[in-house]
Amino acid sequence: MSIKAVIFDLDGVIVSTDDCHYRGWKKMADEEGIYFDRTINERLRGVSRMESLNIILERSEKEYTEEEKTALATRKNGYYVEFIQALTPDDILPGVMEALSSLKEKGIKIAIGSSSKNTPIILKQIGLSDYFDAVSDGNNISKSKPDPEVFVKAAEFLGMQNSDCAIVEDADAGIEAGKAAGMTTFAVGSAKGSDYKLETMKDLLKYV
Ligand code: BG6
Ligand code: MG
Repeated sequence: MSIKAVIFDLDGVIVSTDDCHYRGWKKMADEEGIYFDRTINERLRGVSRMESLNIILERSEKEYTEEEKTALATRKNGYYVEFIQALTPDDILPGVMEALSSLKEKGIKIAIGSSSKNTPIILKQIGLSDYFDAVSDGNNISKSKPDPEVFVKAAEFLGMQNSDCAIVEDADAGIEAGKAAGMTTFAVGSAKGSDYKLETMKDLLKYV
């Protein structure tokens, strides 16, 4: 394999923000009287904020206008941003720093490819703001995963061909996006459809 760059999803790959997302959506849903649980939360993995809201609203009896929907998403994000203030470098997932520093030593470029508009805040909280060669996130895309845009932009920022890049993902939508971009795909957790599955992040070093 001739991989010259690895693009990492952020949420669920570098750091686990699942619980913060869950608590943010749960608080908003409870206030609105909408049923929401951790099983539904799993469906939000890798999906944009507004698409996540639409999934949650499948359980709502009330029809919301676009303006009201924007207000609900903004309210949830306010709670979420409050919760992620508690993240620290200790929340970086096991094996991640070892893998990242080994890739750097090998001269492999590393980037972030995340749907989240909160990527800059999260990277700051975990002390990795200046660590990656490029960051492509929810702030520079118009189409969310499974569209390949976020990964294609990351490759562009790195000055790499898509075929020279690999992606690491915890979401089915992210694996689909990586494939659509023509990149090698590595899955962590329960993401399906990847070229390779990683039991731990350090396994990445067996391939790259
Ligand atoms: C993804 C998460 O990384 O970012 C999704 O897996 C989330 O659950 C999406 O909805 C958008 O995040 P944010 O921070 O812009 O609301
Ligand atoms: Mg993810």
